[in-house]
Amino acid sequence: MSSQTERGVRALAEIPRGHERVAVYHRTLNASVDGIWANVLDWEHIPWLHATTFTSVELLERGANYWRARVGLAPRGLSRAVVLELVVDRPGLRYTTQTLEGPGAGALVLTKIQPRGPRTSDIVVEFHALVRNQIQRVAMRRAYERVYRVLWDEDEAMIERTDALAAASVKLRARSPRTRVKLGPRTSVASAGPLIVELGGRRVRVLRQGDELVAHDLLCPHMGGPLDEAKVEYGRVVCPWHGYAFELESGRCQRARGLCLHPTRIELEGDDVVLISG
Ligand code: FES
Ligand SMILES: [Fe+2]
Repeated sequence: MSSQTERGVRALAEIPRGHERVAVYHRTLNASVDGIWANVLDWEHIPWLHATTFTSVELLERGANYWRARVGLAPRGLSRAVVLELVVDRPGLRYTTQTLEGPGAGALVLTKIQPRGPRTSDIVVEFHALVRNQIQRVAMRRAYERVYRVLWDEDEAMIERTDALAAASVKLRARSPRTRVKLGPRTSVASAGPLIVELGGRRVRVLRQGDELVAHDLLCPHMGGPLDEAKVEYGRVVCPWHGYAFELESGRCQRARGLCLHPTRIELEGDDVVLISG
């Protein structure tokens, strides 16, 4: 079990007595080490980025190098949940994720990171669990490998993007100067389906909502999530990384006050649609 020190820093979990290593997963990631730390300490993305594996997250506690949370397991209908604790040892380039409660309580995942380049890292993921027999061992190995392949596919895409935004020095909340472009007759724009338009160095999506045409910026101001295919519902666009919803009209986010999408709107000039950003 993990131990706590005075400054909200925890030691890595130790492999519980009687547990054995049931699987090892190796992978080279297009991801910086800093990107991996930011990703694993970001508990909030769990049910959004990993929606096929997890259904909810409730933060119970967190400190400088750890978090503990109750996490719902897919499928949603079964209402199963686990309490997970993740502890990071940055100097040691490793972290542990332990199941503290729920199905598989005690199981421990130890991940070791080996930097390969500025935006490339190898990871070795060891799965330690209590095993009763060979059939269970094989089933666990297959399940862990299958689930972790999916989780790391999703995390790698997120880290690749945040690394690329950092490398390009993209400021997530910077305002760009006002720019406008005429898109053409309303009927043609409306029938064209969702359009991605470059406007003053930014990317904007134009799409139909019922009889209306709406537009929004494609860069989430929270952590840079991609809004290219984000769900639009109830007049809001929902970021796929952490589920923050931004009002199309004002750009405002209800969950995080002060967080606003870059302003974008549509006007009609006669029969022509004009897109305005900034
Ligand atoms: S990046 Fe976090 S909600 Fe968009
Ligand atoms: Fe993740």
